[in-house]
Amino acid sequence: MNKMKRTALVAAALGLAATGAYAQGNYPQRPITMVVPFAAGGPTDVIARIVGDHMSRTLGQQIVVENVVGAGGTTGMTRAVQAAPDGYTIAMGHMGTQGAAPALYPNLKYDPTKDFQPIGMAAGTPIVIVAKKDFPAKDLKGFIDNVKANATKLNMAHAGVGSVSHTTGVLLNSILDIKPTMVAYRGTGPALNDLMSGQVDFMTDQIVNVAPQITGGNIKAYAIATPERSPALPDLPTTKEAGLTTYEVSAWNAIFAPKATPKEITAKLVDALDKALDDETTRKRILDLGGVIPDKKGRGPESLQKLVESEVARWTPVLKAAGVVGQ
Ligand code: MLT
Repeated sequence: MNKMKRTALVAAALGLAATGAYAQGNYPQRPITMVVPFAAGGPTDVIARIVGDHMSRTLGQQIVVENVVGAGGTTGMTRAVQAAPDGYTIAMGHMGTQGAAPALYPNLKYDPTKDFQPIGMAAGTPIVIVAKKDFPAKDLKGFIDNVKANATKLNMAHAGVGSVSHTTGVLLNSILDIKPTMVAYRGTGPALNDLMSGQVDFMTDQIVNVAPQITGGNIKAYAIATPERSPALPDLPTTKEAGLTTYEVSAWNAIFAPKATPKEITAKLVDALDKALDDETTRKRILDLGGVIPDKKGRGPESLQKLVESEVARWTPVLKAAGVVGQ
């Protein structure tokens, strides 16, 4: 190679490196897509829009939610993990897509423990046992008696195999030893619509989706599956108080980027999420729906990485024991 050619190549390489550094330093310069792997209006979508709103203001660019649904949320997360790792595609994953999916999808195109750069936890979301408003039971005991006697005639709604509503529903069914007909939706947003109109009988769902409809009397709630009651639904007993001591389960929603996203960019996303979760208005919006805001220690990338690893380890044996068939 002659000297001129070599000089030109070096200059080009330096130029590219400078452009990369420039692009990272000036990130973001255009809107960011946040993939929500479930239908609009459901819990993942709601949390994404609440935190995305404030993050957009911090970043100076709009975070645009794109609902990419299917296969219990794994279709959307696959889209996100395969996107260019440039900070312009991130995703709101959750306990199902990042914790339960590996046990249920042998051909899953991502490893939740390895293929994402965790940004941070957005909200914890307790699980509530809910039923259509004319379900003939006054309390959890009555509900359990009813579903045990009639399970084969009852429809249980969920958001697809491996979703939060599915895994927590399967867990409840295995504890109660019942086999209702499982009806899959593209998210629990649409599932809730059918629960309100009485087309399905019951489901287990994240509090942020159901709290307003419980308060409004449009559906019945029997118990919240956390050790303590929720300030958003103070009259609702815990499963333990209501006598179902073995059913305690919570979900979470968290932001992820493709693994190779540069550190300068992920640091800005981490900071924007942190600021959103410190903002009074954003906090109120989450808390009013019963969501739990992670404290400083529990919201960063390191603790999210540990959480994903522990959730995969926790859910795999549970789902296998419950006999859930993989896809
Ligand atoms: C789930 O069950 O995984 C969620 O409710 C999904 C959703 O956001 O609809």
